[in-house]
Amino acid sequence: LPVLLALLLASYCIAGIPFGLVFSKLAGVDVREKGSGNIGATNVTRTMGTGMGVLTMLCDIAKGWVCTFFGSAILARLVFEGDPAPVAPTGAFGWTVACIYLACICGHVFSPYLHFRGGKGIAVGFGAALGFSWPIALGLLVVWALCAVPSRYVSAGSTCAAVCLPFLAFFIYYPASFAFVAPFVLVAVIVVWAHRENLGRLRAGTERPFSFKREDEA
Ligand code: G3P
Repeated sequence: LPVLLALLLASYCIAGIPFGLVFSKLAGVDVREKGSGNIGATNVTRTMGTGMGVLTMLCDIAKGWVCTFFGSAILARLVFEGDPAPVAPTGAFGWTVACIYLACICGHVFSPYLHFRGGKGIAVGFGAALGFSWPIALGLLVVWALCAVPSRYVSAGSTCAAVCLPFLAFFIYYPASFAFVAPFVLVAVIVVWAHRENLGRLRAGTERPFSFKREDEA
């Protein structure tokens, strides 16, 4: 239990690092005051250009990956004997890794460094999936691309991918246990909640379509 608690706390603190805000501040801008006000790669691209957007996306993906990859390796060595991959979704190991995944999303969305505010959990969620299950990560990417590319609404892809996450976890590791799927259900709820303003704009037809151009250049 102490190992699990330490890993959850470490993941929460690592995933809480708001790279988008750090990079924008270094460039003299507060991305929270621009565009959608989000600290994620989409809004950094929108306000600061593709280079900064890609950098934010890569760092957010990397922090998620670090948490679940090293988290599951440490768990496997210290708590569970054997190989960390593939995840055993019906056992305690799979459930524990799923909880680390949830801690990552909480760290990014409710950042300890931003008075428990933060981003929307997409890049970090993809990275954290890559760190323990490439099939889930691939599934998320496919769903995201199928929704986001034709519509050009990143938020549409993001919310669809979030809703599909528990189903992907269940069917890829069919029949995954309820304990394994439950943290992914919570992740889906948190990510959809984080997109509540985007969903309102999508309904109202006022959501900003994705563009590689900065808003001030558009
Ligand atoms: O990953 C965030 C994306 O889904 C929406 O970003 O800035 O348009 O609210 P944004």
